[in-house]
Amino acid sequence: MCGIIGCAGESETLDVLLTGLEGLEYRGYDSAGVALSNGDLSVCKREGEIQRLQQAVTSDLDGRVGIGHTRWSTHGPPSDANAHPHTDCTGEVAVVHNGIVENYADLRAELREDGHEFDSDTDSEVVPHLIEANLAEGATFEEAFRAAVARLEGSYALAAVSADSEAILATRRDSPLVVGVGDDAAYLASDVPAFLDYTDRVVYLEDGEFARLESGSWTVSDAEGHLLEKSVSRVEWDAEETAKSGYDHYMLKEIHEQPRALRKCLRGRVDELTGSVDVEALKGLDPESVQFVACGTSYHAALYGAQALREAGVHAQAFLASEYATSPAPVGDDTLVVGITQSGETADTLSALREAERRNVETLAMTNVVGSTAARECDRTLFIRAGPEIGVAATKTFSSQVVACNLLAAALTERHDAREIVEALRDLPSQVQTILDDSRAAQVADRFVDSSGYFFVGRGYHHAVALEGALKLKEISYKHAEGFPAGELKHGPLALVTDETPVFALVTGNGGKATKTVGNVKEVEARDAPVVAVTDGASDVGRYADAVLEIPETHPRVAPVLANVQLQLVAYYIAKQLGRSIDKPRNLAKSVTVE
Ligand code: F6R
Repeated sequence: MCGIIGCAGESETLDVLLTGLEGLEYRGYDSAGVALSNGDLSVCKREGEIQRLQQAVTSDLDGRVGIGHTRWSTHGPPSDANAHPHTDCTGEVAVVHNGIVENYADLRAELREDGHEFDSDTDSEVVPHLIEANLAEGATFEEAFRAAVARLEGSYALAAVSADSEAILATRRDSPLVVGVGDDAAYLASDVPAFLDYTDRVVYLEDGEFARLESGSWTVSDAEGHLLEKSVSRVEWDAEETAKSGYDHYMLKEIHEQPRALRKCLRGRVDELTGSVDVEALKGLDPESVQFVACGTSYHAALYGAQALREAGVHAQAFLASEYATSPAPVGDDTLVVGITQSGETADTLSALREAERRNVETLAMTNVVGSTAARECDRTLFIRAGPEIGVAATKTFSSQVVACNLLAAALTERHDAREIVEALRDLPSQVQTILDDSRAAQVADRFVDSSGYFFVGRGYHHAVALEGALKLKEISYKHAEGFPAGELKHGPLALVTDETPVFALVTGNGGKATKTVGNVKEVEARDAPVVAVTDGASDVGRYADAVLEIPETHPRVAPVLANVQLQLVAYYIAKQLGRSIDKPRNLAKSVTVE
């Protein structure tokens, strides 16, 4: 977790760092800090959000070369002392770190014996002290940095500056880091949006590579110091896409961006006449079985994807990535492991994908981020093309993942209703727009904001959305919410249902599954629980509901995306009424790069 920014420029370096940190705040917001070098090293860091740091910076904080950090705590609670950058005993070297130094306790003990004193509880602070120790033995800054890195076990993206050098030195292992190439400046960040205001030209660093940034120049070398030829790519996102554009929150903006995101996900990939898909990344795939691995919201998309494949006769399962890495499922020669990960950097998912690679299984990354670790490490990559998502709560990326799962299902199987599904997908963006224009979610939120807990139930594809609806609500409102397969409610959770706990029931179509879910709705209604039906009106669920959130009729495969948009809005408005920090919910960060 955590976000790193660096800038080696001519002027305005501090502004670049502070703006970059704002763009990275979704990666952690426990504390923030900057260090600038100008012959002298100056450091400013504060517990809390970036505004506190911005208030604290003074005019004597100056330098052409600087690094900054926004923190999501792993070792040591949020505090000024635990904020990065960390410095050595002399105050001449400053380091920012994302990841975990697993052998920090041993290193700290060794450094203490040599007289080093530590100011923080963090694992990261050993790094500037290791650099200091190497400098004391006569190494150059770069030699000292490389020698320090060689001592580290664990995961890291690291950047360091020194009072005596005009360079930023950086490296990575299992944590993202990208170089930005400007005309007069070079940038460094955990993620592209941090410097997108200044350049859209990027160089992705691989594990074990070292970058050296000086005013307007950059080089990348391998662990032995040999210079590498790296290609410069242009990112498609622009700064406007990463701005709030008049919305109160990124989350609301991103909910409203869904029609556009879905169109982009489908563009040029489906043939509406035949229902066939034409996606380069999926060509020639013919697995006997598919294992999805993912976390959180992406896991809910994986549950959906596995069902879509099973429905078409492919053996498919969804696994929580953190569990898969611990207890991998058996694989055959023709197994495909699909990692669904918006960021492409989630450590649990990467670890599960690497486990698959170790077993020589073909891997596919389904991700939003070009150049992400998942995209670079997997055999194939299907980009979901949702555009940048800044709000910590995933919204548009879930919808795009679900649509991408449909592309995968269509590529792997032939269904008699393939054309109907493609037509439904084609109409999906405008149907989402209809919901965004007419939703009564704000009124529902108003009515139930004070409830003690919330339940979400649905069958089949709606099960994934029930889980997602509950996750979205709990993460941004901090209220208790649970999702269940509708049929499971009576096997235990029903004991929790009271007149204080609204039950959101997802019911589309008529007969079969819908009739059974309506039966479950009657069970909760009989216990006086308020019912909110999310429905296309095809069944009579509305008769038993206290409130109805309507969605347009569509193919059963596609209905869950529409139902989910209503639930995203309910979660948003409840959290807004409660005055929560919607884009940066407490204790969470967008990109979870530790296991
Ligand atoms: C919830 C949310 C998280 C992520 C999870 C996986 O709103 O955003 O549950 O879905 O941390 O992240 P990615 O998709 O980046 O692997």
